[in-house]
Amino acid sequence: MGRKRVIIIILGLLFLILLGVLGFLFVKSKELKINYKKEITVNVYDKLNNLESIKSIKNGKIITKRKNINTSSVGVKKINIKVKDFFNRESIISYKVNIVDKESPVIRFKDHIVTDFGVKVDLLKDVSASDNSKKDIKVEVSGKYDFNKSDKYNLEYVAKDYSGNEKREKFILEVKEKPVVVTNNNSNNTNSGNTNFTTSKGFSGVTRGGITYINGIMIANKTYSLPYSYNPGGLTGDTVAAMNRMFSDAKASGLNIYLASGFRSYTSQKIIYNNYVNVDGQANADTYSARPGHSEHQTGYAFDVNQINNSFDNTNEAIWLANNCYKYGFILRYPKGKTNETGYMYESWHFRYVGVDLASKLYNNGNWITLESYFGITSKYN
Ligand code: DAL
Ligand code: ZN
Repeated sequence: MGRKRVIIIILGLLFLILLGVLGFLFVKSKELKINYKKEITVNVYDKLNNLESIKSIKNGKIITKRKNINTSSVGVKKINIKVKDFFNRESIISYKVNIVDKESPVIRFKDHIVTDFGVKVDLLKDVSASDNSKKDIKVEVSGKYDFNKSDKYNLEYVAKDYSGNEKREKFILEVKEKPVVVTNNNSNNTNSGNTNFTTSKGFSGVTRGGITYINGIMIANKTYSLPYSYNPGGLTGDTVAAMNRMFSDAKASGLNIYLASGFRSYTSQKIIYNNYVNVDGQANADTYSARPGHSEHQTGYAFDVNQINNSFDNTNEAIWLANNCYKYGFILRYPKGKTNETGYMYESWHFRYVGVDLASKLYNNGNWITLESYFGITSKYN
């Protein structure tokens, strides 16, 4: 072999090696490079798409179409994505999605519930819970209480979601003092100025200092009057508390109920009544306005709301009150068609506090029983 020939073969070989190296470098530079997270964590119901974990891709493209991933249940999901490299070769990459729930439920509740002694109330009636899992969440009451023992009980509502996230909210259950029961232990029915009697329906009544109570309930109607001097100084505390709760619950239902006339003294009732007599004559006035000393407004347990006339009848507010007032201890005092019993025409706006127990009985599934009929008493001027 000549020297020249050897040189040519060597150069040829070097050229081939160079070609090989260049080819290798080219292939290497066209390698598919995907930067993506192998595991991601999201909250239940978070928005997520299948390509979310991919940060960048070089020398290739994604074949799988972008689509939303269902994150409505807690757990682990494996997501596969098809890709193509520079040389049109397909491959699949996979990653993990952890769907977790770390949020506690939200409880809607009242932080103070008041009830009369011995009157059970459903502590869960107006309570509800919602959760980001959108599942139904049960609420339970934690703590000890007794409706037959007057106290202020510090209790908690507890709600747990299906991932074990728990929410606790404190509330107070107030069971009021046991009412003083008037008993008749005197055979001739008088006891230090008290006159005791029994109604036609067997309820015990007492007239003490000119004020009549039947079964502990103060009575003011055409038969039973209050003394000129009786003045509790305004609506009683119980009446105001229950009224405010009722008004705010009504407001939460989109209704506008407001106090129009609350406590009225003997003297202010006298002015109102005389005014009606002057305008309308006594016979008419007596059908809708109480004579001084006979108005329930003087007891401090009664009030009128909104428009004090028939334009209030059948409004959403009047309907709601008639159907719900008993839950707060109020009665629709002068129901429709009961003039013979109450002595007054229908008043959709006048409510009287008697406590939840009695109010619930008188409500009678919407077919109101009057105080007069329930106790077995009259409402007639002498
Ligand atoms: N309107 C009621 C009867 C009152 O005057 O007390
Ligand atoms: Zn009234």
